[in-house]
Amino acid sequence: MARSHSLFFCKECGTESGQWVGKCGGCGEWNTLVEAPTAEPTSGGRPGKRSAGAHAASPPAIQPQALDSFDIAAGAAHPTGIAELDRVLGGGLVNGSTTLLGGEPGVGKSTLLLQVVAAVASRARKVLVVSAEEAGGQIRARAERLGLQLAAIRVLNSTSVDDACAAIETDRPDLVVVDSIQTVHDPASASAPGSVNQVTLSAQRLIASTHASGAALVLVGHVTKDGGLAGPRVLEHMVDTVLTFEGDQARQLRMLRAIKHRFGPTGELGLFEMGADGLSGVTDPGSRFIGDRRDGITGSAVAATVDGHRTLVVEIQALVVELSSPDAAPRWATQGIDQRRLSLLTAVLSKRADVTTGRCDVYAATTGGVRVGEPGADLALCLALASSRLDVPLSPDLAAFGEVGLSGDVRGVGRAETRLREAARLGFKRALVPASEACQVSGMRVVPVATITEALQAVGLAARRNAA
Ligand code: TYD
Ligand code: MG
Repeated sequence: MARSHSLFFCKECGTESGQWVGKCGGCGEWNTLVEAPTAEPTSGGRPGKRSAGAHAASPPAIQPQALDSFDIAAGAAHPTGIAELDRVLGGGLVNGSTTLLGGEPGVGKSTLLLQVVAAVASRARKVLVVSAEEAGGQIRARAERLGLQLAAIRVLNSTSVDDACAAIETDRPDLVVVDSIQTVHDPASASAPGSVNQVTLSAQRLIASTHASGAALVLVGHVTKDGGLAGPRVLEHMVDTVLTFEGDQARQLRMLRAIKHRFGPTGELGLFEMGADGLSGVTDPGSRFIGDRRDGITGSAVAATVDGHRTLVVEIQALVVELSSPDAAPRWATQGIDQRRLSLLTAVLSKRADVTTGRCDVYAATTGGVRVGEPGADLALCLALASSRLDVPLSPDLAAFGEVGLSGDVRGVGRAETRLREAARLGFKRALVPASEACQVSGMRVVPVATITEALQAVGLAARRNAA
């Protein structure tokens, strides 16, 4: 006799399991398994385990065919008109695709998407905003303040996914924005709004609906403090594109990145500035990430970094302070810099260049709220750390780039000329570069270095290092 089986999946990594277990076999997290929403047999929802008999019974409806007999997918990207978003998407939004925009509350997701729908509507394309968080009047007030054209923006104020799907069917928009996926719910499901079941079900229904109509769908997703999407990770697997929007609320800078993108490359960086009249694109960051660098300040170095197709010249600051008592535990804090990278580089400095920080508090930060994740910033971070530790300032006209390996070698990171040209444009006169990437750039004295020791020597830090 046939028995119905429940299916469970991990809300963190999406691993499926035929039974509930306390620890997920996929990611090892505890208590993350939840029962999967049971899909209608014909709905094409989450695939369950098929019974053995099902294989033999029906012949497959779809046959394989030669690759050259398929029509090339009409996945043309439509520019939204918001240049920084189009840059990150590699052109624009693709019809029938789903994009998840994740970001902390207050970062500016609703503002960005309001500007996007207005820009798309101004290109004679139909847009629909499903707002489950803000009332229509609030959205209108914001749109008016931003000077947007209101009439072409259709808004559905509802938390019900039934209403949203019905509006998509009748309105036939080209772009649908759902703000947010955590606040819409499927009234037919008994699960609480915001629960994993509800978020997954609602997303499934919205995706099916926009797939059928050919609209591009953008879902807003709130992220938790640790950066994960509140709700199931499986949502990230269900969509074509995942965008993250981040920025320090105390500053105006906002960074948009694609961390998953089925229709183009990831890794491109979009820059915005939040002002009184909404978000404006930052086309030329120039010296925005370099503070007011006075002569004689220790612990500051400048990195010529590359992020996507952009070259960002970024000041990196470090503060290394000896512990006041032998029992105190060292404190480490970073802003805009990966803490693991900082630990690794302090270990390299200690082992390969005798610059020790073991009994010190170590702080490192970028200027202007930017986050650098590129290894090309290693050399400048090492210089900043050594400068602070040894209390020797670096020359303010010096820039650097290069990855620092575990053996203390300085490695090439590509796009040397572009980095040097941008640093020269911003007034830097001298640059430490990996020996393998030495090149000539007008107005710049290029100093090739093969190891971290050579780099410290070149800037007058090595002679003092034994004093530390
Ligand atoms: P919002 O788009 O509501 O953020 P999210 O949808 O990600 O929660 O943006 C909210 C913040 O942006 C709020 O703190 C006010 C600020 N803001 C401006 O500074 N200028 C503006 O023109 C607008 C519309 C918002
Ligand atoms: Mg919002």
